[in-house]
Amino acid sequence: MKTLLALLCMVGILIPVYGQKFEPNYDEDKVPEYQLPSLLNMENGKPVTNKRQWGKRRAELVEIFENEIYGKSPEWDGQITSRLIFENKDYLNGKATRKVIRLTLARAGETVDLDLLVFYPNLGKKVPAFLGLNFYGNHTISSDDQVAVPDTWVRNNEAMGSANNKPSEKGRGLRIDNWPYEDILSRGYGLVTLYYGQIDPDYADGFKNGVHALYPEGKRKPNSWASIAAWGWGLSRVMDYLEEEDWVDDKKVAVLGHSRLGKAALWAGATDERFGMVISNNSGCGGAALSRRAYGETIGQMINVIPYWFSDSFTVYDKKENELPVDQHQLLALMAPRPLYVASGVEDQWADPKGEFLSCVAASPAYELFGKEGVPAEVLPPLDQPVMGSIGYHIRSGGHGLLPYDWKQYLDFADKHF
Ligand code: GCU
Repeated sequence: MKTLLALLCMVGILIPVYGQKFEPNYDEDKVPEYQLPSLLNMENGKPVTNKRQWGKRRAELVEIFENEIYGKSPEWDGQITSRLIFENKDYLNGKATRKVIRLTLARAGETVDLDLLVFYPNLGKKVPAFLGLNFYGNHTISSDDQVAVPDTWVRNNEAMGSANNKPSEKGRGLRIDNWPYEDILSRGYGLVTLYYGQIDPDYADGFKNGVHALYPEGKRKPNSWASIAAWGWGLSRVMDYLEEEDWVDDKKVAVLGHSRLGKAALWAGATDERFGMVISNNSGCGGAALSRRAYGETIGQMINVIPYWFSDSFTVYDKKENELPVDQHQLLALMAPRPLYVASGVEDQWADPKGEFLSCVAASPAYELFGKEGVPAEVLPPLDQPVMGSIGYHIRSGGHGLLPYDWKQYLDFADKHF
């Protein structure tokens, strides 16, 4: 019964908010009137008209997002060591290398291990790469047992072989379609992925485990970092490591994520400008979608059901979207001038595809300050017809998921920009 309820909640059929049913609005006519906070005015009202001024506006916006939504992540001041778990330089008949590297983050007497599953084409030169967190463990992206089942917190998902938080062989290879590494490699790109639960567990653990344990806090502040910030911060630690690797062109690392991990990828891209490209796949509310539309998932729904994703300060915006000093177009604008891709699925109305698109439109003026075109469309493009400026966007057939169709567009977008 519990599993059935959880499933219904996940697909958005039944949404519990403190015992009441949350009924998402899916009617465009019921979207409230709203005015987006200004992108190109400083908080004191001064207009921002060039790149230099944008630098100041950018810093101001990052601080507001930290203080009001995601929390402020610590400056990394610990040690990272890496250990090769295995390496196969002759993968796919010699076309590629596959390896697992264990990064150990150490600080304050605590350690956290992150196992990176790495693929790159054997081209004898540095290659661009995609970096993304996965939902169910690296073994779900491998059909053979060289890639181990993670021995760590795992989402409780029976279908993926992780019932009772115990990952198992049952999940092996089940997510290869979501990470089509053979296509990625054949297009000349590397792929680095890791299990997000190794960075921070996805349940309300009082921020005691994962990377939060490296920064013991005592009493938390309203803007203390929460889980999305932690997952994004973990991506930055992987970037620290990639900067030392000789196979990857570290100026061309595209950080990507699906759904909650799309929110994390956006936050990583916003706070860490070393990521040369940012890709949000169906990230929805708290990700690419405009909060003020309150269409599909809302702030109130998130902070009641999954409060530990966000800083405590965010809780005051339950049903008060208009009081939030920022909206998500400003988050997207923090990627400028770096290429950004936002993708939606038409059946994934919970994530408000139109709100994701409008957010791209409203973020575009930041790109224009750099002489670049943001998203090259004024109205929602037709289904399955991607548009690609410095901001790329598509709304594809189908629902919530990171699909081969999405990857095809990301590879084309990366070819265009890298
Ligand atoms: C839930 C949640 C979304 C999230 C999604 C996911 O649907 O409400 O905000 O994006 O899970 O991560 O799959």
